[in-house]
Amino acid sequence: MITTGCYLTPLFTDAHILDLPMEDTLSDCNDGHFQDDRSLWKAPFIQCSILSRRGISVDDSSNTSGIENGGDNGDGSSVDAQKVFENFLERHKCEIMSISQEEVTPEVLLEGLGCSLEFTKFVAMHDTLMYSQMIEVILTCNLPSSSARFIDLCAGSSVPTIRALLRNPAYKDLTVVSVDVDADAITISRRNVALAGLQSRFIIMQSDMLAYLDNVSIGENEILVSNPPYMPIPATAKSDFFLPVDGGADGTKYLEQILTKDMPAGSIVGIRWCSLTNPVRLVKLIEDRFDVVDVRAHRAPFGTYAKMTQEYLQKQREAGKSVFYQDAAGNKNFVFMSTVLRRKEG
Ligand SMILES: C[S@@+](CC[C@H](N)C(=O)[O-])C[C@H]1O[C@@H](n2cnc3c(N)ncnc32)[C@H](O)[C@@H]1O
Repeated sequence: MITTGCYLTPLFTDAHILDLPMEDTLSDCNDGHFQDDRSLWKAPFIQCSILSRRGISVDDSSNTSGIENGGDNGDGSSVDAQKVFENFLERHKCEIMSISQEEVTPEVLLEGLGCSLEFTKFVAMHDTLMYSQMIEVILTCNLPSSSARFIDLCAGSSVPTIRALLRNPAYKDLTVVSVDVDADAITISRRNVALAGLQSRFIIMQSDMLAYLDNVSIGENEILVSNPPYMPIPATAKSDFFLPVDGGADGTKYLEQILTKDMPAGSIVGIRWCSLTNPVRLVKLIEDRFDVVDVRAHRAPFGTYAKMTQEYLQKQREAGKSVFYQDAAGNKNFVFMSTVLRRKEG
């Protein structure tokens, strides 16, 4: 059971990867609960005004409809996707935060950056913000070297990396490789990088990320981050409209390629995904090859894309390939994840 009532959870499961010794990381804890000490973590958190301090218990029956999520694991064995997902959160000491999506506006994202940036047609600002915050966590806590190369797959407008760099100017020697398949995203990325005065630090490439991954070799000191399309989308719904979110039949099409990519032991990978993204498959892919360094999660109601595909999502859930929740009034919600990983030996 994941307990409620604690705002910041002990997010870093491997203290030695941080600059801080374990005693320091725990020095502000009361009864094992972290206080809201942002300077301690040197990592950004969503403004309190838009984030409920209430951690929601993931097995609180009032949050679910008692849905049976059992299904076939592909090898004939029965699985319970909801349990697999919630156990993952529990193992990695992650509480689910709630977020008011309406309050995550472009202004909130760009606050304090000193420049105005453009966004692409992908308008899930809360997802973009959480992604940028995950990049900051990697920058400020896990970076092996200030001259590391960041590969940002499915970079969209590049706002998440630009924001992270502008907020952390100490990482001035970083190079970011921004890859996106969409020509509009590339144009907007180029404009944004110029507006931020970061041209010398960005290489912007229009490419299918699968083709790019096939051809790139990940070296020491290189970091892979991605907020790829990760929604399960039925083949019948293929269209430009779904391009930013279409993660294939079970949402894992791009994430699987990232998680199975050859890379040196110790490499850092940061990915976004959600409880709709076949958690049974994804948790296995993650834990087979990676140590989990940091997990953050927030709950959000079904938005445009999920509402448009809810019949398909319902079938996915019945097949044990997707997890979502429903309140007493029938409103559906699911959980978005930021996960920082470190490649295991072997
Ligand atoms: C979920 S959005 C994320 C955008 C940005 N990283 C953010 O957080 O705001 C996914 C992005 O993936 C891009 N994309 C979709 N399919 C792609 C592919 N096959 N290769 C590269 N990029 C792709 C879309 O154009 C979109 O910009």
